Amino acid sequence: MLIASSLYPCVAVACLGLAYLPSAYAWGAAGHEIIATIAQIHLEPDVLPVLCDILDPPSNPSSQDPNDSAHLSASRPPCHLAPIAAWADKVRRTPGYGNTAPLHYVGALDDSPSSSCVFPGSRGWAGRRDNNVLAAVTNKTRALFGALGSDAEEAAEALKFLVHFVGDMHMPLHLTGKERGGNGARVTFDGRVTNLHTVWDSLLIAHALRIVPSNYTLPLEDAAGVEVHLRGAIYDPYVRRIMHEGFGAGVGPSEGAGRFEDDRWLSCPTEEERAAARRAKRSAVWDVIVSMLRFIRGWLGLGYGDNAGTMPSLGQVLERWWHTTGDEERWDSDGLCPYAWAREIHELNCAFPVWPPELDEHPSALLSELAEEHGCSCSDEAHDEHHLNTAAEHDDMHANSSGTPRPHPDLLELDTPRYAGRIRKRWLVERLLAMAGIRLAGILNALVAGDESAHLSTSL
Ligand SMILES: *[C@@H]1O[C@H](CO)[C@@H](O)[C@H](O)[C@H]1NC(C)=O
Ligand SMILES: *[C@@H]1O[C@H](CO)[C@@H](O)[C@H](O)[C@H]1NC(C)=O
Ligand SMILES: *[C@@H]1O[C@H](CO)[C@@H](O)[C@H](O)[C@H]1NC(C)=O
Ligand SMILES: *[C@@H]1O[C@H](CO)[C@@H](O)[C@H](O)[C@H]1NC(C)=O
Repeated sequence: MLIASSLYPCVAVACLGLAYLPSAYAWGAAGHEIIATIAQIHLEPDVLPVLCDILDPPSNPSSQDPNDSAHLSASRPPCHLAPIAAWADKVRRTPGYGNTAPLHYVGALDDSPSSSCVFPGSRGWAGRRDNNVLAAVTNKTRALFGALGSDAEEAAEALKFLVHFVGDMHMPLHLTGKERGGNGARVTFDGRVTNLHTVWDSLLIAHALRIVPSNYTLPLEDAAGVEVHLRGAIYDPYVRRIMHEGFGAGVGPSEGAGRFEDDRWLSCPTEEERAAARRAKRSAVWDVIVSMLRFIRGWLGLGYGDNAGTMPSLGQVLERWWHTTGDEERWDSDGLCPYAWAREIHELNCAFPVWPPELDEHPSALLSELAEEHGCSCSDEAHDEHHLNTAAEHDDMHANSSGTPRPHPDLLELDTPRYAGRIRKRWLVERLLAMAGIRLAGILNALVAGDESAHLSTSL
């Protein structure tokens, strides 16, 4: 249900005579809820009650049921994070929240998976400075920390955004602007016309839910820490599977570790490493200035000086400067480093590759090229529109009356062993969902509980 309904909300915009069905948000609602559930499972015991109070402040704290917080949390959590996980997608089209749309993604101007992945590359990021998902993760963490215990309403909103944006930044196509993060890249999946973004948002997860072994419909033995956080959702068996096979929840001591045992998802570059990167940048800037002075001297006929031969050319220096001029590390700190985390995930677009190379050879696949041919301005639509150009109405006619879809002759099919099969075999989607959950839990644990909080707050 969740998945189906996340596919086709909103209004239709006509262009090119095709039906544009806007929607296809980051990790459809199910993906965001799964991430929030995994995060909730990994919260320290005293953190969830604090978050629940933020989301649903007790109307009269003094008359609170004394049984509530203490007893209840052992058997039943006071609230769940999953129901708020897709809120940020729901409000982005409502008055007052329109300017939050660009906070769901980030893209470098020159990024062009799968042939060349840059993050950000020589021309930097598209869009306004600090108006992207990486800056937003840091900003909302800071906002939540600042409002904790003082402004419940602001804290609640920051928490809802944070839960969502940490999810978004783990969806590889939210880290590239190419074809609006794949929204404009038409493909088929199991014979049905859709787009690359939707495959990642929803269809891979929908398929993963269908193939969960049936033993996961039962509660995990010896894993009460998982079971109390499940709500009877359609994805519960999938969460059990990720927890059991990925994190080893409910696994006996003799049965070996989970797949994620050795992963260190919470680590960030150290302050020394970040300082070294900043020094490299400063020296690159200095080199540019020196080179320009030399160039001007040479141009004025004053000669280059003795060591001119050892200096890089102005072109080389400018090139190096461009490549290091971004200061995206400003979003990162010792304990919270959205840029460093996202860099690896973005790389998947080329390395896996999440962006199928064949796509660029399919003449009718890329919407922006179609649009250019027809002199349509569709391609100027912002990434954030997340239009789902399925041309669904048109292409449903490819399905005959029995409802069986026929393969679309011109589009790339992605539900193949080579693409979707490899993703399943490598547990790529599960790994990204789990990684997002762990990082979200890490941030919330550090902010609300732990000794970490002092550390994280000073570095924010
Ligand atoms: C708290 O729990 C105890 C036992 O479970 C029950 O007897 C008592 O009435 C509860 N108190 C309130 C205020 O609900
Ligand atoms: C950061 O958050 C504050 C509110 O806490 C907001 O006013 C500001 O616009 C945000 N900046 C960005 C770039 O999101
Ligand atoms: C469920 O079955 C799968 C095989 O189909 C097995 O790998 C897995 O360990 C089982 N999970 C549990 C919790 O028993
Ligand atoms: C619909 O397509 C299926 C598979 O291609 C085919 O077996 C079936 O006969 C078709 N039905 C009609 C009514 O064309």
